[in-house]
Amino acid sequence: MSRQRIGVGLCGLGTVGSGVVTLLDRHARELSSRCGLALELVHIGARRDNPNCDTSRYKVSRDIFDVVSDPDVDILVELIGGTTTAFDLVQGALNAGKHVVTANKALMAARGNELAALAEENGVALRYEAAVAGGIPIIKTLRESLAANAIQSVAGIINGTGNFILTEMAKAGRDFEDVLAEAQALGYAEADPTFDIDGTDAAHKLVILATLAFGIPLNSEGPFTEGINSVAPEDLRFAAELGYVIKHLGIATRAGERVDLRVHPTLIPVDKQIATVDGVLNTVMIRSDGVGELVLVGPGAGALPTASAVCGDVADVAQHMARGIGDSLPVLGRPVSELQELATVPRGEVESEWYLRMVVADEPGAMADITRLLGDQDISIESLIQRPPETGSTQVSVVIVTDRAPGAAIERATSAIAALDATDGSITMLRIESFEAA
Ligand code: HSE
Repeated sequence: MSRQRIGVGLCGLGTVGSGVVTLLDRHARELSSRCGLALELVHIGARRDNPNCDTSRYKVSRDIFDVVSDPDVDILVELIGGTTTAFDLVQGALNAGKHVVTANKALMAARGNELAALAEENGVALRYEAAVAGGIPIIKTLRESLAANAIQSVAGIINGTGNFILTEMAKAGRDFEDVLAEAQALGYAEADPTFDIDGTDAAHKLVILATLAFGIPLNSEGPFTEGINSVAPEDLRFAAELGYVIKHLGIATRAGERVDLRVHPTLIPVDKQIATVDGVLNTVMIRSDGVGELVLVGPGAGALPTASAVCGDVADVAQHMARGIGDSLPVLGRPVSELQELATVPRGEVESEWYLRMVVADEPGAMADITRLLGDQDISIESLIQRPPETGSTQVSVVIVTDRAPGAAIERATSAIAALDATDGSITMLRIESFEAA
């Protein structure tokens, strides 16, 4: 008997889940027409109702595993998040011969190698466009459109919450907690926003991008990771005074037979395109030998942009199914057996310009000691700001911008500076990227 329809099962009814219900409903006819077969949401698994989502027309189960065992479900959409129950759910679906679409970057980064191998074994699709940069089609771009390119680097703003917070703090002078609460209310932040703030979410996404770009296995331990919590309001003000904005970037670079994977706040000259990507927008800049430089910009979080990416994957899988074609795309851009480990460039070898902010005693010789300790490590100073002490204070804020220097030299210099009696022992260190043409 030929197939009459393609059934979609949705697990998880949070912000993105409710967006998926909205888009599948709004575009039901169009999606079915693209497939040439009815594409229907047939079963929702959610532990609780979402007051913003009317599910009265759908079969709803409280046990999400009922969706996996439902014979009417051909494509399982996993939107519950996390890496434990979500893993069991996705594993169960792949083993049951069902195609899976997920937005779960933590799951893909941590256990994606295993799941990709399982999808290959079972001849089913595992798609995850929504896992990176929300509505931007970056997975398809790297996996399919740029297949005939050697990719040199992938860099960008890949956490919408972090970009929203930094933008509002810098442009409107708003308080961190206040903007974070708004990002949560708007559905940008993770249920627990810790990963948005400490850089883990961006690191998960960078791991996925690096795998697709360089053909390496997913390695969630790979990136050096620093979050936006290392940026104080005065850093945003000093950066502006010096002609920079601060953005939280993920940067993956191929350096011969090694890779450099980093996630950290970064000063960027105000006249660079990436410096103008504000609010919840994300951007990914790819450098490769064929196309040269390619920049994608779009909403990086939020219900409908992320649901758009999920539904695009669902439609893609359904189109293959409707034509009786199994999944034709390797999950990680190439078969798991073809992925090759590359060593990571040690952090101390990575060069950049640096922004250093410290509090220094307003006394003779203090600045001379600091500049001497930088000079001892061959680090040249490009610019320097010293604020006069506030009335009654004996301390001054000092900001130094250095020329390019390896991380190890900066570590040695700042450790020595922090040990001076004239400083309070804490130094804010931020990298500067100018994104000059390769
Ligand atoms: N919390 C994530 C972000 C959601 O803000 O980017 C999209 O992955």
